[in-house]
Amino acid sequence: MTDVFGLSHKDTSPVSGQTKHEQVVFCSDERSGLHAIIAVYNTALGPSLGGTRFYPYGSEQAALADVLNLSRAMAYKNALAGLDLGGGKAVIIGDPATDKSEALLRAYGRFVQSLGGRYFTACDVGTYSEDMDIVARESSYVTGRTLANGGAGDSSILTAYGVFQGMRAAAEHVHGTSTLRGRRVGVEGVGKVGHRLVDHLVEDGAEVVICDVDEQAVERVRRRHPQVEVVADQLALTSLDIDVYAPCALGGALDDETVARLRAGIVCGGANNQLAHPGVEKELADRGILYAPDYVVNSGGVIQVADEIHGFDMDRAKAKATKIYDTTLKIFVAAAEEGVPPAVAADRLAERRMSEVGRIRGIWLGR
Ligand SMILES: NC(=O)c1ccc[n+]([C@@H]2O[C@H](COP(=O)([O-])OP(=O)(O)OC[C@H]3O[C@@H](n4cnc5c(N)ncnc54)[C@H](O)[C@@H]3O)[C@@H](O)[C@H]2O)c1
Repeated sequence: MTDVFGLSHKDTSPVSGQTKHEQVVFCSDERSGLHAIIAVYNTALGPSLGGTRFYPYGSEQAALADVLNLSRAMAYKNALAGLDLGGGKAVIIGDPATDKSEALLRAYGRFVQSLGGRYFTACDVGTYSEDMDIVARESSYVTGRTLANGGAGDSSILTAYGVFQGMRAAAEHVHGTSTLRGRRVGVEGVGKVGHRLVDHLVEDGAEVVICDVDEQAVERVRRRHPQVEVVADQLALTSLDIDVYAPCALGGALDDETVARLRAGIVCGGANNQLAHPGVEKELADRGILYAPDYVVNSGGVIQVADEIHGFDMDRAKAKATKIYDTTLKIFVAAAEEGVPPAVAADRLAERRMSEVGRIRGIWLGR
């Protein structure tokens, strides 16, 4: 078993903010092969919420580093999404293709239940709505279930919608008009989120260029929108004369080389962890490129699944996701006023909400 506290002395590099976590729970069940870690970063705004990542980590140390970072990121995302939820995340160590079973998922559900509602789980890499239905047979603190079971279903619907709202805010900030009509937008990755974003962009009158390593994903878009241009890869896409670059594939899309090459004036996409390393946000700002912070614009998905806690209502969830436009605009204004990149302004706003709203729970209610 990893010594969580010992880790801080030996290796702090992959684990940011680790000492601030409220609670970290190691869960194991020998017979089903469950080996999981649940991390609650904070509950300042309410119970923590974040997905369960099922992934074949090379070591428990790597899994721990990931869950600590991811749970912290969820606290910031949930805070700026305007949710009354803190930040949490879980990882199950193993290969979902071979290790996932009913017994393992139900054993995991019992550990989620044991936290008494301090942590709500959801889907993430390697877990699907059908898996959450199984986890929910042992726990009341599960979101992201299938529509048939009262769940919010596929969260990429509002993720893509929210990214589009963020992009409209960026266009407003840069061009003085929130439409993407006539702008050339490059979308990298047209999977669940990317292909829905293309729908919104085409409907708004944008010119769209895409790339994806998966031929079938490209074909799906081409069938719906024959006018969409296709290029070979990210290098080709980011070398083009485009107005907006939308990373919607994997993390780390914005490294030093890409930023130096980029001709777009706006970066706004659905992918998580777009900045390859700290400092890239400043490189973007120095080049005059407006970066819409990833965790702000892609929060439509968590807004969608969080709504399930109160009985899912798509209209209500969509109304909340529409506010991503206002939040993104507010961040750009704060960044300009404070002379910092938007990523820094976003963190500050999130920290302020966690501190100011979290504080009121200290008001004594007499019981
Ligand atoms: N699904 C959600 O609700 C949600 C919510 C928040 C954030 N995100 C993030 O958005 C991103 C996309 O998520 P998704 O659910 O659409 O996943 P997905 O797997 O459905 O789509 C990703 C797409 O990117 C493509 N891709 C992979 N590597 C590529 C490369 N090098 N160049 C071009 N294309 C490449 C894949 O072929 C795939 O079509 C991820 O970073 C995810 O973490 C998703």
